[in-house]
Amino acid sequence: MSAVAMPRPAHVLTASQFDRELTDSLLQRAAELEGIRDNLLAGKIMATLFYEPSTRTRLSFESAMVRRGGEIISAEDASQTSSAVKGETLEDTIRVVGCYADLIVLRHPTVGASQRAALVSPVPLINAGDGSGEHPTQALLDIYTIKRELGSIDGKHIVLCGDLRFSRTVPSLVTLASLYNARFSLVSTPELAMAPEMVEALRNSGTHIVETADINEVIRDCDVLYPTRVQEERTDIRYNAGVVVDNALMQRLPERAIVMSPLPRRDEIAPEIDNDPRVAYFRQAANGVPVRMALLEALLT
Ligand code: NCD
Repeated sequence: MSAVAMPRPAHVLTASQFDRELTDSLLQRAAELEGIRDNLLAGKIMATLFYEPSTRTRLSFESAMVRRGGEIISAEDASQTSSAVKGETLEDTIRVVGCYADLIVLRHPTVGASQRAALVSPVPLINAGDGSGEHPTQALLDIYTIKRELGSIDGKHIVLCGDLRFSRTVPSLVTLASLYNARFSLVSTPELAMAPEMVEALRNSGTHIVETADINEVIRDCDVLYPTRVQEERTDIRYNAGVVVDNALMQRLPERAIVMSPLPRRDEIAPEIDNDPRVAYFRQAANGVPVRMALLEALLT
C-alpha cells in the first residue's frame, strides 16, 4: 500500500480530526511498516521542538524518521535552550524552525499551543502533547496496540484509572477509541476525575461511560486496563490514592485483558507485574515507531 493521504493542511493537532477511515488506513500502514527500513524520506528534515521532558515520544519520532531515511534537527530542551529563554514567542520560533525543517513535532506545556503554532507554521506540525490538552499520536499508537494485542478495538471495554483530569493521553484515547464504539470505565478519586464537561460531551455523542471510585465494580469485564500517573507537573496533588495495579489486582483481571500505559509509570503500576503476559506497556512503547513511520509518510509524501 502507498502512503495514506492526509487532508491538507496536514497538521496533526487533535484526535478529533481523525475519522474511522483515516485511522484504519494509518493502522494498516503502520502494520506494514513494522521492521522496515527504507529511504522514502531521504532529503526530508524533521525538527523535534520539545518544551517538556520526553523519552518515548521524541525518540520514537526520531527513530521513525531515521528508519525512513530522513534527518533530524532537535531542540530537546527548548524551554531552556531555545530563544524562548530570551522571550521569543512560540509563534516566532515556529515561523523560523519551519524554514529549517519540512515538519515540526512540538511538545509544549500550554493547552492549545499546537493549535496556535499551526496557524503560523509553514510546514506540517504534529502535536506531541500540549499541557493537559491532547496527545493524538499517543492515542494512535494506543489503539494500534489494542488492535494488535486483542484483534480489534470494536466494542472493547477500556478501564481508565489514575489521573483522568490532567492526563492528555486519556482524552485523545477516548476520542479515537470512540470511533470503534469502545466502552469506558473511569476510575479515580474526585480530585483526579475527568472534567464533567468532557464526560457530558462524550455521553452526548453516544459514548458509553461508567464513573466509579471502585475498580472492583468494573475489573471483571475489562479488556484494557489503562492506569495513568499523577501529572505532578500540572497539579499539586502528589499522591495517587487511587488504583495500584499489582499482583493482587492482576488476579482479578480477565485472562484475555491487557494492561497498557503511556509511561512513565510511578506508583500506580507495581514492577512485580512486569512479567505477566498481559502486560503490554513495553510492547505499546515499541509500537510508537511503526505508527509514527506511517504518520510521517502521510505528512511528507
Ligand atoms: C505521556 C505524556 O507525555 O503525556 N507520556 C508519553 O508521551 N508517552 C504520559 C505521561 O507523561 O504521564
